[in-house]
Amino acid sequence: MIKTCIFPVAGLGSRFLPATKSIPKEMLVVVDKPLIQYAVEEAKAAGIERFIFVTSQGKSAIEDHFDRLQLLEQTLEKRKKFDLLHKIVDSALEPSQAVYVRQPAPLGLGHAILCAKHLIQDEAFAVILADDLILSKTPCLKQMINAYTPEDGNMVATMVVDPSHVSRYGILTISEQIEQKIRAINVVEKPTRDVAPSCSAVIGRYILRHELLDTLHKQSPGAGAEIQLTDAIQHMLPTTPLTGYSYEGERFDCGTKEGWLEANIAFACQNEDVYAHLVPMLKRYVDNYTHQH
Ligand code: G1P
Repeated sequence: MIKTCIFPVAGLGSRFLPATKSIPKEMLVVVDKPLIQYAVEEAKAAGIERFIFVTSQGKSAIEDHFDRLQLLEQTLEKRKKFDLLHKIVDSALEPSQAVYVRQPAPLGLGHAILCAKHLIQDEAFAVILADDLILSKTPCLKQMINAYTPEDGNMVATMVVDPSHVSRYGILTISEQIEQKIRAINVVEKPTRDVAPSCSAVIGRYILRHELLDTLHKQSPGAGAEIQLTDAIQHMLPTTPLTGYSYEGERFDCGTKEGWLEANIAFACQNEDVYAHLVPMLKRYVDNYTHQH
């Protein structure tokens, strides 16, 4: 039912400078894969067939990453490195699957989505923000697509965050929760702690009705003087419901250094090759730290 996913990857990544001076932040590696590859794999696992990347200047490494590299493939084949060969072939996208459009200026997440408007027909579509990395048994977007019905309107992944962090997120006003679905009657982008209606934050997975693109088109700038996706979702209320989906899994904010580091540890714990080395290594650092403090 939902076959298209947009990946907004035009952001500057200033929090990771100088690492992101010439490398897109979505190409930052967690253990052995760039963030954007985790996002694309999650979308593939959810049945997505069309992958739209909203890029900007300096992001061509993302396009290269999803390309087939004949010379590399031939070399790996000659050297009989079949494991690696499969990994890089599997990570590529077919030319018919991937579309790259540019966001000409950093005008916000809503504006980034709008840059893909001409590629969306009359169908609901998904959005994944690659720096929200989620470790779960069933990929988060798959959980959402499995649960989604048209009556849910616009659906966003949600989790409860620490009250001191609400100003980093879109925050929901909740009316009721039935199992994992939360009916929201409002959403506000990056409220201060004193006016935040709850601690239920929007996390970077969305299933959006195509009508949202018309709303976005008329949307004036909001928080941070940017065109905000949450504002357009809010404007569609009450005619189009808003459903929060309380997913199963652990989310890492790889837009921050601490979140990215923690993601590396969490994903390394899932990786057989690394896990055995990781535990004694961490123990050594913890022991040293405890000794010094
Ligand atoms: C964006 C959205 C925000 C959402 C957040 C999740 O903010 O605008 O509503 O809660 O992603 O990570 P950003 O992180 O781009 O500032």
